[in-house]
This record gives sequence, C-alpha cells and structure tokens, in this order.
Amino acid sequence: APQELRELLLSRIHDVPDYPKPGVMFKDITPLLADAKAFAALTDALAGLCERHGATKVVGLEARGFILAAPVAVRAGLGFVPVRKAGKLPGATLAQSYELEYGTAEIEMHADALVEGDRVLVIDDVLATGGTAEASLKLIRRAGAEVAGVAVLMELGFLPGRARLEPALDGAPLEAL
Ligand code: PRP
Repeated sequence: APQELRELLLSRIHDVPDYPKPGVMFKDITPLLADAKAFAALTDALAGLCERHGATKVVGLEARGFILAAPVAVRAGLGFVPVRKAGKLPGATLAQSYELEYGTAEIEMHADALVEGDRVLVIDDVLATGGTAEASLKLIRRAGAEVAGVAVLMELGFLPGRARLEPALDGAPLEAL
C-alpha cells in the first residue's frame, strides 16, 4: 500500500498486550473501524484489489473478515460469501478442517455459494499462521471456483503464514496492506 495509507492504517491499529492470553500482543482494529476516513480508505484499497485481480466474488472470513469484506463487496459491485466457523450455516456446506497450534478447527462455506468460473478474492483482517486462509482456499477450489487472491489488512511477518499459504495460492497473489 502507499506510504500514506500504510501510516493511516497503522495509526488506527492498537496493540493490546497480553490479550487474549499472557504473552500475546493483540492487534485491535476497532479504532480503525470507528474512524470513517480510515475505514473508507481501507475499503477503497481492498476494492481496488478486487478490480486489479479480476475478482467476481468476495469471500470474508469470520468474524473480523466479515466487517472488512462486506463493504468491499458493495464498493466493488460484487457479491459477498461468508466462510464461517463450523455449525453456523443453515444450508448444505463444504467443510474444511485445519491444524491449529494445539488441536484443529473447521470452517464451512455454503456448497452452492460459488459457481464454476467465479474468481474469488479472500479478505481477512490478519494473516497469522495462515491456517484459516489456507483452509478457505481449499474450500474455494473444492467448490470449483478460481482463487483471484488473498488480501489482508495485516500480515504478521514474524510468523510463517505466507510460506504456509504459498502452495494453496498456486501463484495467486497475497496482498497485505
Ligand atoms: C483470527 C483472524 C484470522 C485468523 C488468523 O480470527 O481474524 O481470521 O485468526 O489466524 P491464522 O492465520 O493463524 O489462521 P479468529 O479465529 O480469532 O476468529 P474471530 O475473527 O471470529 O475472532
């Protein structure tokens, strides 16, 4: 992202030490969301990525990914598809489990949410270990759609998320603002 946008976004993301656990530095995006100018600038930048990468659908990852992806979809003139934690969607779903530091998690998407020929941009707030984003790309491909890319507000550069995501991206871009 351009320096000016980076600085605006960074200034509105607050570090909260020892949340949710001791030793963890939580990146709180609520000040960014509460700032109309910063939220609009973020939405515009992400909508620009939809256009640049030829997306036809926007996927948001529960829960903070929803907050970012929904206005981006509207701004870009595209439909929004939620990828949710297991057990939250009412219709027939595709499910994908993935490894956490301790144990596993599972996400789901409606089986008919994407059609062949769709090109999907995945949006989330943070790329940490990359597990959630990687699982979402598997869901998108299993649904028969293409991956236009993954766009996140923040990439935690001290974690190997980008490397973990690389095979599932299969050449598609990972954009971190
Ligand atoms: C956080 C974050 C990403 C994911 C990143 O969500 O919003 O979705 O974790 O971590 P990863 O790269 O290691 O998979 P969380 O699971 O806390 O869900 P929430 O947004 O519903 O609180």
